[in-house]
Amino acid sequence: MKALVTGGAGFIGSHVVDELLRRNYEVVVYDNLSSGFLRHLEQGLSEGRIQLIRGDILDAGTLTRAMEGTSTVFHLAANADVRGGRGDTRVDLEQNILGTHRVLEAMRTVEVSEIVFTSSATVYGEPDRFPTPEEYAPTQTSLYGASKLAAEAMIQAYGEYFGIRSYVFRFVSWIGERYSHGVVYDFVNKLRSDPNHLEILGDGNQKKSYLYVEDGIRGIFLARERIVGHKNVLNLGHLEYMNVRDLASIVCSEMGLTDVSFRFTGGPRGWLGDSPFVHLDVSKVRQAGFDPQVSIEQGIRRTVRYLLNNPWLLEARSS
Ligand SMILES: NC(=O)c1ccc[n+]([C@@H]2O[C@H](COP(=O)([O-])OP(=O)(O)OC[C@H]3O[C@@H](n4cnc5c(N)ncnc54)[C@H](O)[C@@H]3O)[C@@H](O)[C@H]2O)c1
Repeated sequence: MKALVTGGAGFIGSHVVDELLRRNYEVVVYDNLSSGFLRHLEQGLSEGRIQLIRGDILDAGTLTRAMEGTSTVFHLAANADVRGGRGDTRVDLEQNILGTHRVLEAMRTVEVSEIVFTSSATVYGEPDRFPTPEEYAPTQTSLYGASKLAAEAMIQAYGEYFGIRSYVFRFVSWIGERYSHGVVYDFVNKLRSDPNHLEILGDGNQKKSYLYVEDGIRGIFLARERIVGHKNVLNLGHLEYMNVRDLASIVCSEMGLTDVSFRFTGGPRGWLGDSPFVHLDVSKVRQAGFDPQVSIEQGIRRTVRYLLNNPWLLEARSS
Protein backbone atom coordinates (compact mmCIF):
# COMPACT_ATOMS: atom_id res chain seq x y z
CA MET A 1 0.00 0.00 0.00
CA LYS A 2 1.44 3.32 -1.04
CA ALA A 3 -0.15 6.70 -0.37
CA LEU A 4 0.83 10.19 -1.45
CA VAL A 5 0.05 13.07 0.90
CA THR A 6 -0.01 16.55 -0.61
CA GLY A 7 0.65 19.04 2.17
CA GLY A 8 2.13 16.23 4.26
CA ALA A 9 4.50 18.60 6.06
CA GLY A 10 1.64 20.73 7.36
CA PHE A 11 -0.24 20.67 10.66
CA ILE A 12 -2.90 18.11 9.72
CA GLY A 13 -1.00 16.45 6.85
CA SER A 14 1.90 15.42 9.10
CA HIS A 15 -0.55 13.64 11.43
CA VAL A 16 -2.08 11.87 8.43
CA VAL A 17 1.47 10.77 7.52
CA ASP A 18 2.07 9.44 11.05
CA GLU A 19 -1.15 7.43 10.91
CA LEU A 20 -0.30 6.00 7.49
CA LEU A 21 3.13 4.95 8.78
CA ARG A 22 1.48 3.30 11.79
CA ARG A 23 -0.61 1.36 9.29
CA ASN A 24 2.52 0.33 7.38
CA TYR A 25 1.84 2.33 4.25
CA GLU A 26 4.67 3.44 2.05
CA VAL A 27 4.31 7.21 2.21
CA VAL A 28 5.22 9.91 -0.28
CA VAL A 29 5.01 13.45 1.05
CA TYR A 30 4.52 16.04 -1.66
CA ASP A 31 4.92 19.54 -0.26
CA ASN A 32 6.39 22.88 -1.31
CA LEU A 33 7.03 23.80 2.35
CA SER A 34 5.26 27.15 1.94
CA SER A 35 3.57 26.69 5.32
CA GLY A 36 4.77 23.21 6.32
CA PHE A 37 7.82 22.13 8.32
CA LEU A 38 10.19 19.20 7.90
CA ARG A 39 10.46 19.10 11.69
CA HIS A 40 6.91 17.71 11.75
CA LEU A 41 8.21 14.69 9.82
CA GLU A 42 11.51 14.31 11.68
CA GLN A 43 11.01 10.75 12.86
CA GLY A 44 9.70 9.26 9.61
CA LEU A 45 12.41 11.02 7.61
CA SER A 46 15.25 9.94 9.90
CA GLU A 47 14.01 6.34 9.78
CA GLY A 48 13.87 6.53 5.96
CA ARG A 49 10.17 5.68 5.98
CA ILE A 50 9.00 8.77 4.08
CA GLN A 51 9.83 9.66 0.51
CA LEU A 52 9.87 13.45 0.46
CA ILE A 53 9.26 15.32 -2.76
CA ARG A 54 9.64 19.05 -2.43
CA GLY A 55 7.28 20.18 -5.17
CA ASP A 56 4.30 22.35 -5.93
CA ILE A 57 0.90 20.84 -6.75
CA LEU A 58 0.69 23.28 -9.67
CA ASP A 59 3.73 21.57 -11.24
CA ALA A 60 1.86 18.85 -13.18
CA GLY A 61 4.95 16.94 -14.40
CA THR A 62 6.60 16.50 -11.00
CA LEU A 63 3.27 15.74 -9.36
CA THR A 64 2.34 13.06 -11.89
CA ARG A 65 5.73 11.34 -11.59
CA ALA A 66 5.46 11.46 -7.80
CA MET A 67 2.12 9.67 -7.90
CA GLU A 68 3.24 6.66 -9.86
CA GLY A 69 2.54 3.43 -7.99
CA THR A 70 0.28 4.96 -5.35
CA SER A 71 -3.20 3.66 -4.57
CA THR A 72 -4.50 6.63 -2.60
CA VAL A 73 -3.95 10.37 -2.53
CA PHE A 74 -4.60 12.41 0.58
CA HIS A 75 -4.92 15.91 -0.82
CA LEU A 76 -4.32 18.53 1.88
CA ALA A 77 -2.05 21.05 0.15
CA ALA A 78 -3.98 24.29 -0.11
CA ASN A 79 -4.16 27.86 0.87
CA ALA A 80 -5.49 27.09 4.35
CA ASP A 81 -5.86 30.75 5.36
CA VAL A 82 -9.51 31.74 5.11
CA ARG A 83 -8.70 35.41 5.55
CA GLY A 84 -6.22 35.86 2.72
CA GLY A 85 -8.69 35.80 -0.17
CA ARG A 86 -9.78 39.39 0.14
CA GLY A 87 -6.30 40.79 -0.28
CA ASP A 88 -5.32 38.40 -3.07
CA THR A 89 -8.34 37.16 -4.99
CA ARG A 90 -6.28 34.68 -7.05
CA VAL A 91 -4.82 32.62 -4.20
CA ASP A 92 -7.86 30.41 -3.53
CA LEU A 93 -8.53 29.99 -7.22
CA GLU A 94 -4.96 28.91 -7.95
CA GLN A 95 -4.07 26.91 -4.86
CA ASN A 96 -7.41 25.31 -4.10
CA ILE A 97 -9.25 24.99 -7.42
CA LEU A 98 -6.45 24.73 -10.00
CA GLY A 99 -4.31 22.86 -7.46
CA THR A 100 -7.03 20.25 -6.95
CA HIS A 101 -7.51 20.00 -10.70
CA ARG A 102 -3.78 19.25 -11.11
CA VAL A 103 -4.02 16.57 -8.43
CA LEU A 104 -7.02 14.96 -10.13
CA GLU A 105 -5.35 15.07 -13.56
CA ALA A 106 -2.22 13.43 -12.18
CA MET A 107 -4.40 10.76 -10.54
CA ARG A 108 -6.23 10.14 -13.81
CA THR A 109 -2.96 9.87 -15.74
CA VAL A 110 -1.38 7.26 -13.48
CA GLU A 111 -4.71 5.67 -12.49
CA VAL A 112 -4.90 6.32 -8.77
CA SER A 113 -8.30 5.15 -7.59
CA GLU A 114 -8.99 7.02 -4.34
CA ILE A 115 -8.78 10.61 -3.07
CA VAL A 116 -9.23 11.87 0.46
CA PHE A 117 -9.83 15.61 0.41
CA THR A 118 -9.82 18.17 3.21
CA SER A 119 -12.68 20.57 2.68
CA SER A 120 -14.10 22.92 5.27
CA ALA A 121 -17.19 23.97 7.20
CA THR A 122 -16.56 27.30 5.49
CA VAL A 123 -18.41 25.89 2.45
CA TYR A 124 -21.64 26.40 4.46
CA GLY A 125 -21.14 30.18 4.58
CA GLU A 126 -23.44 31.43 7.32
CA PRO A 127 -26.00 28.64 7.63
CA ASP A 128 -29.30 29.01 9.46
CA ARG A 129 -29.54 25.35 10.45
CA PHE A 130 -27.61 23.85 13.41
CA PRO A 131 -26.05 21.43 13.67
CA THR A 132 -25.54 21.87 9.93
CA PRO A 133 -25.98 18.67 7.89
CA GLU A 134 -24.05 17.81 4.72
CA GLU A 135 -27.21 18.29 2.64
CA TYR A 136 -27.58 21.96 3.59
CA ALA A 137 -27.71 24.14 0.45
CA PRO A 138 -25.19 26.87 1.18
CA THR A 139 -24.60 30.43 0.02
CA GLN A 140 -20.92 31.36 -0.15
CA THR A 141 -19.42 34.11 2.02
CA SER A 142 -15.71 33.66 1.28
CA LEU A 143 -13.45 32.89 -1.65
CA TYR A 144 -11.83 30.16 0.45
CA GLY A 145 -15.19 28.44 1.01
CA ALA A 146 -16.15 28.90 -2.62
CA SER A 147 -12.85 27.37 -3.75
CA LYS A 148 -13.26 24.35 -1.48
CA LEU A 149 -16.80 23.77 -2.75
CA ALA A 150 -15.59 24.04 -6.35
CA ALA A 151 -12.81 21.54 -5.61
CA GLU A 152 -15.36 19.16 -4.05
CA ALA A 153 -17.50 19.42 -7.18
CA MET A 154 -14.54 18.64 -9.44
CA ILE A 155 -13.64 15.63 -7.34
CA GLN A 156 -17.18 14.31 -7.76
CA ALA A 157 -17.10 14.83 -11.53
CA TYR A 158 -13.77 13.00 -11.80
CA GLY A 159 -15.38 10.23 -9.78
CA GLU A 160 -18.09 9.97 -12.40
CA TYR A 161 -15.81 10.12 -15.44
CA PHE A 162 -12.81 8.17 -14.23
CA GLY A 163 -14.04 6.02 -11.36
CA ILE A 164 -12.04 7.82 -8.65
CA ARG A 165 -13.53 7.10 -5.24
CA SER A 166 -13.67 10.09 -2.92
CA TYR A 167 -13.81 10.96 0.75
CA VAL A 168 -14.41 14.67 1.16
CA PHE A 169 -14.21 15.83 4.77
CA ARG A 170 -15.69 19.16 5.77
CA PHE A 171 -13.62 20.10 8.81
CA VAL A 172 -14.33 22.52 11.61
CA SER A 173 -11.20 24.24 13.01
CA TRP A 174 -8.64 21.72 14.22
CA ILE A 175 -6.38 22.20 17.23
CA GLY A 176 -3.58 20.17 18.79
CA GLU A 177 0.09 19.35 18.39
CA ARG A 178 1.86 21.04 15.43
CA TYR A 179 -0.93 23.61 15.15
CA SER A 180 0.55 26.56 13.28
CA HIS A 181 -2.23 28.97 12.37
CA GLY A 182 -5.60 30.06 13.73
CA VAL A 183 -7.07 31.63 16.80
CA VAL A 184 -5.15 29.78 19.54
CA TYR A 185 -1.87 30.42 17.72
CA ASP A 186 -2.71 34.12 17.36
CA PHE A 187 -3.72 34.49 21.00
CA VAL A 188 -0.61 32.74 22.34
CA ASN A 189 1.61 34.91 20.15
CA LYS A 190 -0.13 38.13 21.16
CA LEU A 191 -0.03 37.21 24.85
CA ARG A 192 3.66 36.38 24.67
CA SER A 193 4.38 39.90 23.49
CA ASP A 194 1.84 41.57 25.81
CA PRO A 195 0.66 39.44 28.77
CA ASN A 196 -1.76 42.12 29.99
CA HIS A 197 -3.86 42.87 26.92
CA LEU A 198 -5.49 40.73 24.27
CA GLU A 199 -7.21 42.01 21.17
CA ILE A 200 -10.01 39.68 20.08
CA LEU A 201 -11.42 39.98 16.56
CA GLY A 202 -15.21 40.40 16.57
CA ASP A 203 -17.39 40.58 19.70
CA GLY A 204 -16.06 37.33 21.21
CA ASN A 205 -19.42 35.58 20.82
CA GLN A 206 -18.46 33.66 17.66
CA LYS A 207 -19.04 30.00 18.47
CA LYS A 208 -16.95 27.26 16.91
CA SER A 209 -16.70 23.54 17.25
CA TYR A 210 -12.93 22.95 17.58
CA LEU A 211 -11.69 19.42 17.00
CA TYR A 212 -8.57 17.91 18.58
CA VAL A 213 -6.22 16.50 15.97
CA GLU A 214 -6.05 12.92 17.28
CA ASP A 215 -9.83 12.71 17.24
CA GLY A 216 -9.94 14.14 13.73
CA ILE A 217 -7.39 11.68 12.38
CA ARG A 218 -9.29 8.80 13.96
CA GLY A 219 -12.47 10.12 12.30
CA ILE A 220 -10.88 10.22 8.85
CA PHE A 221 -9.54 6.68 9.01
CA LEU A 222 -12.68 5.23 10.61
CA ALA A 223 -14.87 6.78 7.93
CA ARG A 224 -12.59 5.54 5.19
CA GLU A 225 -12.70 2.01 6.58
CA ARG A 226 -16.38 1.78 7.34
CA ILE A 227 -18.22 3.99 4.85
CA VAL A 228 -18.30 2.31 1.49
CA GLY A 229 -19.89 4.82 -0.91
CA HIS A 230 -18.20 5.95 -4.10
CA LYS A 231 -18.57 9.69 -3.46
CA ASN A 232 -18.58 10.49 0.22
CA VAL A 233 -19.04 13.98 1.67
CA LEU A 234 -18.70 13.95 5.44
CA ASN A 235 -18.77 16.59 8.15
CA LEU A 236 -16.05 16.19 10.76
CA GLY A 237 -16.25 18.26 13.93
CA HIS A 238 -16.77 18.15 17.68
CA LEU A 239 -20.18 17.64 19.28
CA GLU A 240 -19.40 20.60 21.53
CA TYR A 241 -18.81 24.22 20.62
CA MET A 242 -17.29 27.17 22.46
CA ASN A 243 -17.26 30.92 22.04
CA VAL A 244 -14.07 32.86 21.38
CA ARG A 245 -14.25 34.75 24.69
CA ASP A 246 -14.21 31.45 26.66
CA LEU A 247 -11.45 30.14 24.42
CA ALA A 248 -9.39 33.24 25.21
CA SER A 249 -9.92 32.71 28.97
CA ILE A 250 -8.69 29.11 28.69
CA VAL A 251 -5.60 30.23 26.74
CA CYS A 252 -4.83 32.81 29.45
CA SER A 253 -5.36 30.28 32.22
CA GLU A 254 -3.09 27.71 30.55
CA MET A 255 -0.41 30.40 30.15
CA GLY A 256 -0.74 31.23 33.85
CA LEU A 257 -1.98 34.76 33.13
CA THR A 258 -4.56 36.16 35.53
CA ASP A 259 -4.65 39.84 34.71
CA VAL A 260 -5.46 40.12 31.02
CA SER A 261 -7.90 42.70 29.73
CA PHE A 262 -9.71 41.76 26.56
CA ARG A 263 -10.39 44.33 23.85
CA PHE A 264 -12.95 43.39 21.21
CA THR A 265 -12.84 44.82 17.71
CA GLY A 266 -16.64 44.36 17.59
CA GLY A 267 -19.24 42.89 15.30
CA PRO A 268 -20.46 39.28 15.03
CA ARG A 269 -17.60 38.19 12.73
CA GLY A 270 -13.83 38.22 13.21
CA TRP A 271 -13.26 39.07 9.54
CA LEU A 272 -15.16 39.09 6.28
CA GLY A 273 -16.09 35.51 5.47
CA ASP A 274 -15.92 34.41 9.12
CA SER A 275 -18.96 32.44 10.21
CA PRO A 276 -20.37 33.51 13.60
CA PHE A 277 -21.48 29.95 14.42
CA VAL A 278 -19.95 26.69 13.24
CA HIS A 279 -21.54 23.51 14.50
CA LEU A 280 -21.81 20.56 12.15
CA ASP A 281 -24.10 17.58 12.18
CA VAL A 282 -21.63 14.70 12.43
CA SER A 283 -24.11 11.84 12.59
CA LYS A 284 -22.74 10.22 9.43
CA VAL A 285 -19.22 9.84 10.81
CA ARG A 286 -20.68 8.90 14.20
CA GLN A 287 -22.37 5.95 12.54
CA ALA A 288 -18.89 4.87 11.46
CA GLY A 289 -17.81 4.94 15.12
CA PHE A 290 -16.44 8.49 15.41
CA ASP A 291 -16.66 9.76 18.97
CA PRO A 292 -14.39 12.64 20.01
CA GLN A 293 -12.49 11.78 23.18
CA VAL A 294 -10.91 15.14 23.99
CA SER A 295 -13.09 18.04 25.11
CA ILE A 296 -12.63 21.41 23.42
CA GLU A 297 -11.19 22.80 26.66
CA GLN A 298 -8.63 20.00 26.95
CA GLY A 299 -7.78 20.35 23.26
CA ILE A 300 -7.09 24.07 23.72
CA ARG A 301 -4.95 23.43 26.80
CA ARG A 302 -2.89 20.79 24.98
CA THR A 303 -2.45 23.14 22.02
CA VAL A 304 -1.21 25.97 24.23
CA ARG A 305 1.20 23.64 26.05
CA TYR A 306 2.53 22.34 22.75
CA LEU A 307 3.10 25.85 21.41
CA LEU A 308 4.82 27.04 24.59
CA ASN A 309 7.10 23.99 24.42
CA ASN A 310 7.83 24.66 20.74
CA PRO A 311 8.54 28.40 20.48
CA TRP A 312 10.22 27.83 17.09
CA LEU A 313 6.76 27.24 15.65
CA LEU A 314 5.37 30.41 17.20
CA GLU A 315 8.31 32.36 15.84
CA ALA A 316 8.10 30.80 12.37
CA ARG A 317 5.06 32.76 11.36
CA SER A 318 5.18 35.77 13.61
CA SER A 319 8.15 37.35 11.85
N1 LIG B 1 -6.52 23.55 10.13
C1 LIG B 1 -7.84 23.56 10.08
O1 LIG B 1 -8.49 23.82 11.10
C2 LIG B 1 -8.57 23.26 8.80
C3 LIG B 1 -9.96 23.41 8.76
C4 LIG B 1 -10.64 23.14 7.58
C5 LIG B 1 -9.93 22.68 6.48
N2 LIG B 1 -8.58 22.56 6.54
C6 LIG B 1 -7.86 22.09 5.36
O2 LIG B 1 -6.99 21.04 5.73
C7 LIG B 1 -5.80 21.10 4.94
C8 LIG B 1 -4.57 21.15 5.82
O3 LIG B 1 -4.62 22.31 6.63
P1 LIG B 1 -3.50 22.64 7.69
O4 LIG B 1 -4.15 23.36 8.79
O5 LIG B 1 -2.72 21.42 8.00
O6 LIG B 1 -2.63 23.68 6.86
P2 LIG B 1 -1.06 23.86 6.74
O7 LIG B 1 -0.83 25.20 6.14
O8 LIG B 1 -0.37 23.52 8.03
O9 LIG B 1 -0.68 22.73 5.69
C9 LIG B 1 -0.75 22.90 4.30
C10 LIG B 1 0.46 22.20 3.71
O10 LIG B 1 0.39 22.28 2.28
C11 LIG B 1 1.63 22.74 1.77
N3 LIG B 1 1.30 23.46 0.54
C12 LIG B 1 0.58 24.61 0.42
N4 LIG B 1 0.47 24.96 -0.88
C13 LIG B 1 1.14 24.02 -1.59
C14 LIG B 1 1.37 23.83 -2.98
N5 LIG B 1 0.95 24.70 -3.88
N6 LIG B 1 2.08 22.75 -3.37
C15 LIG B 1 2.56 21.86 -2.44
N7 LIG B 1 2.37 21.99 -1.12
C16 LIG B 1 1.66 23.06 -0.71
C17 LIG B 1 2.21 23.63 2.85
O11 LIG B 1 3.62 23.77 2.77
C18 LIG B 1 1.78 22.86 4.11
O12 LIG B 1 2.72 21.87 4.46
C19 LIG B 1 -5.97 22.30 4.02
O13 LIG B 1 -6.49 21.84 2.80
C20 LIG B 1 -6.99 23.14 4.73
O14 LIG B 1 -7.69 23.98 3.84
C21 LIG B 1 -7.89 22.84 7.68
